Amino acid sequence: MKFRVHTYGCQMNVRDSEAIEALMIAAGFEKSAGEDDADVVIVNSCTVREKAEEKAIGKAGNLVAAGKIAGLAGCAVQRLGEKVFKRLPGLDFAVGPRAIGLIPKIVADGRYPRLELGDEGMGAALSSHVEGGWRSFVTVLAGCDNRCSYCIVPDVRGHEYSRPAAEIVAEISALARRGVKEVCLLGQSVLRYGRRNAAWPADAPSGPAGFSEPFPRLLEAVSAIDGIERIRFTSAYPKGCTAELVRAFREFPKVCRHLHLPVQSGSDRVLASMGRGYTRAEYLEAVAALRSFDPEFAVTTDVIVGYPGETEEDFEATRSLMDEAGFDNSFIFKYSPRPGTRSAAMPDDVPKEEKERRDQVLLADQERRGLERNSRLCGTVRRVLCEGRSKRNAGRLSGRDSGNRIVVWDGEPGSMRDGEAVDVRITGALAQTLVGEAVTPA
Ligand code: 5AD
Ligand code: SF4
Repeated sequence: MKFRVHTYGCQMNVRDSEAIEALMIAAGFEKSAGEDDADVVIVNSCTVREKAEEKAIGKAGNLVAAGKIAGLAGCAVQRLGEKVFKRLPGLDFAVGPRAIGLIPKIVADGRYPRLELGDEGMGAALSSHVEGGWRSFVTVLAGCDNRCSYCIVPDVRGHEYSRPAAEIVAEISALARRGVKEVCLLGQSVLRYGRRNAAWPADAPSGPAGFSEPFPRLLEAVSAIDGIERIRFTSAYPKGCTAELVRAFREFPKVCRHLHLPVQSGSDRVLASMGRGYTRAEYLEAVAALRSFDPEFAVTTDVIVGYPGETEEDFEATRSLMDEAGFDNSFIFKYSPRPGTRSAAMPDDVPKEEKERRDQVLLADQERRGLERNSRLCGTVRRVLCEGRSKRNAGRLSGRDSGNRIVVWDGEPGSMRDGEAVDVRITGALAQTLVGEAVTPA
């Protein structure tokens, strides 16, 4: 039997889909070349905004209509529970994000419909990886206990749980032996690693750097793994940007100089209503600390426009914060009330057209800001790991620098392996791309 996984949502879901594939392959199923020749298709869903959920459900509906064995996995399933079969009559199985480990058994049994919302099989899913590839996501912290007013994630992904450091280090060492060069450590608030359960401090042992906090200790331990060249992690929050974290960025060359630090709003009033736990000033302090030793340290963010009660003044505060922070890139989202969250009880009072307008304004601001920031890098040489040919121009190769910036340069497709390092001298800048030429080793 052949299967295919189709993914929506964040990196957490990309990682979960990889685990589903690895477990299916281990159970003897074959990954199909495309969707047409698949017998079973699993749609891994997101529910962070209504639109995201609708997309995944629409996709699964098409598969049911096409007569495939269709399964829906992920966050939307957990939110909908049994109602998922009302929304999708004919759906064969549905599993929440902590139950994906059960999918091979469900498909092997073939007794449909099936619904799984528990956390059985989570251990296997956390540690299963598909072979091949030069970079990998590794979940270090599952779930979230933050309870921001607008966010459905804690409801669907459960409580925060830090994996033991020894397990993480063993997993990354095994990945490195298989050729993985870059890892991205994942957690909804990854900087909280080791803070809730017993993992700290016994689990992430103190190394020569003498850190007392668990996440910097973990970075030190992962840095020591041979073969790993780059370490990224996401997502972060300002209070997690401690002096020790900044020191880890500065002292460990493998730790990439980029942090995705969602701000959501630049208005203290809105931040308080969201329950974000920081002020505008505290956020900007965190950004300044990250850039204190390297002005080109890349900071990217998420912003919500049209949160309940967001006035023109609040919105302008967000605009000015974004300029002050000098974001290298930003992702703008129009507020979408999620049932059961605190903000869903407040009136969704910013009209649709106004959300759209604010979205467009921030996008245009970022375009200008991205261009400004990237232009400063002209003339510098960036170390880039190749990711294959450029999507826009087949005669160019594409990769990323330490700051996660996309870099493109002239080169024959196939002249470099994916994951291979090259130095690129930057000759031009666009808002989201740097253009350059490969520096031939002297
Ligand atoms: N409406 C709009 N955007 C949201 N996000 C999370 N919940 C909502 C919501 N209810 C955004 C946040 C988060 C990103 C992943 O999605 O900006 O950082
Ligand atoms: Fe990721 Fe959140 Fe979407 Fe789930 S709901 S896939 S955690 S963005």
